[in-house]
Amino acid sequence: MEPVRDITLIVHFLGLAMIIGPFLIHLRAHTGYAFSWVLTGGTVQLVTGLALTGLAEMRLADDPELSLDHTKIAVKTVLTLVIFIVALIAYRRQKKMGPGATQRSLLPLLHVAGALAISNVIIAVLWPGVVS
Ligand code: HEM
Repeated sequence: MEPVRDITLIVHFLGLAMIIGPFLIHLRAHTGYAFSWVLTGGTVQLVTGLALTGLAEMRLADDPELSLDHTKIAVKTVLTLVIFIVALIAYRRQKKMGPGATQRSLLPLLHVAGALAISNVIIAVLWPGVVS
């Protein structure tokens, strides 16, 4: 099971980059936000996060002393769902805008997605737990 966990965790890190990368690159831009990547990243994080949770449950099942922190997983899931919804709304609005139109009104949505993804990194690393 270890290689499966390792590969899933690597994809989890790539999904993280798909959200935080566009956020940092377009932090102050006025147009051309890469919401399709943010949306893909949100989807990847939900799928790989749930898979990692399942794999961790299986790993810890044999040890009655250890268990997952379900509150931590729930908080990460809710934040990721908000990222996904925000990215979906922004992506659909962006598609309706003409190529020449200023997209500045969508920037707060990119900020929300980026800030929540960074919050999830902080939670993953700093919130005590057997796994992140
Ligand atoms: C934007 C969303 C997310 C980000 C940025 C993120 C970030 C991270 C990071 C940085 C780690 C590695 C921490 C470490 O090894 O110390 C991690 C691990 C983990 N994440 Fe996420 N995460 C996200 C969403 C989720 C979701 C939605 C879930 C659950 C449904 C989840 C479940 C897990 C689990 C179980 C691990 C531990 C894997 C292991 O060590 O076996 N994550 N996450």
